Amino acid sequence: MEVIIQPSPKAVCAIAARHVAHLLRTKHKAVLGLPTGSTPISLYAEIVRMHREEGLDFKQATTFNLDEYVGIDPANPASYHSFMRQHLFDHLNLDPKNIHMPDGMAKDMPLACQAYETAIREAGGIDLQILGIGADGHIGFNEPSSSLSSRTRLKTLTDKTMRFNKSFFSPGQPVPRYAITMGVGTIMEARACLLLAFGDAKAVAVERMVEGAVSAMVPASILQMHPQAVVILDEAAAKNLRHKDYYRFVYNHKPEWQQR
Ligand code: PGA
Repeated sequence: MEVIIQPSPKAVCAIAARHVAHLLRTKHKAVLGLPTGSTPISLYAEIVRMHREEGLDFKQATTFNLDEYVGIDPANPASYHSFMRQHLFDHLNLDPKNIHMPDGMAKDMPLACQAYETAIREAGGIDLQILGIGADGHIGFNEPSSSLSSRTRLKTLTDKTMRFNKSFFSPGQPVPRYAITMGVGTIMEARACLLLAFGDAKAVAVERMVEGAVSAMVPASILQMHPQAVVILDEAAAKNLRHKDYYRFVYNHKPEWQQR
C-alpha cells in the first residue's frame, strides 16, 4: 500500500486526477470504478477541467459506479445517478452505453447484482477503482462485518452511515436504509485501487485501514492485501498515522519513472 500525504484536498485531487489521466492516455479502452459522496467532488471537477482544457478523452472509456440506494429513482436529486450526472457524466464525452450504475429500482435484486458483476467481467474488469472511505471504515457501502470476499449485493446501511449521508437529502426526506454495492471481493479484483480521504472525521478509519489489522470490521483494511493500492490523504485524515515520516520519505524519493 502506498500512502501519499498532501497539504490539502486540492493537492490530493490533483494527484488522483493525474492517475486517471495516465490510465486514459495509456489504455485504449480504460475501465474506471467510480465513487460518490463528498470526497470525489473536487476530483471530478479536476477531471472535467482536464477534459475541457487538456483534451482528456473519455470516448472509449467505460465506468462502473460502486453503489446506489435502493428505492430511489435515478431522477431523484439525492440518487447517485443524479450525483454522477451533475458532477461528472454531463461534462465528459463518455458514451452513455459505457456508463454503468447499480439499479436501485430493480424488481429482482439478486439478478440485477449478478448482471452487474457480469457486466464488469465482460468489460474486461476494472483498471482503476477510485474509493472514498466511510468514518466506519467502509468502502462502497460494505459496512463493518461485510465479507472480505463479498460480491455485488444488497446491504443494510448502519445508522452512522445514514447520519453521514443525510446532508445529501433535503430536510424531511428519509435516507434509505438499503443500498446495492459492489462487494469487497469485487473491488479487490480491480487492477489498481486509489482511495482518497480528507478531514479529521476520517482520521480514525484511515489509521485502522493503513496501520491496523486486516479485519471485516474495517472493510477498507483489505486494501493492505491489494498489490496496487494507493491511499492519498490530506494532513487531517493522516494525523493518527504512526509512520507518516516514512510515507513522506518514500513519496519524496520516488524514482522519476514512478512519479505521477
Ligand atoms: P464521503 O463518503 O466521501 O461522503 O465522506 C465516503 C464513503 O462513504 O465511502
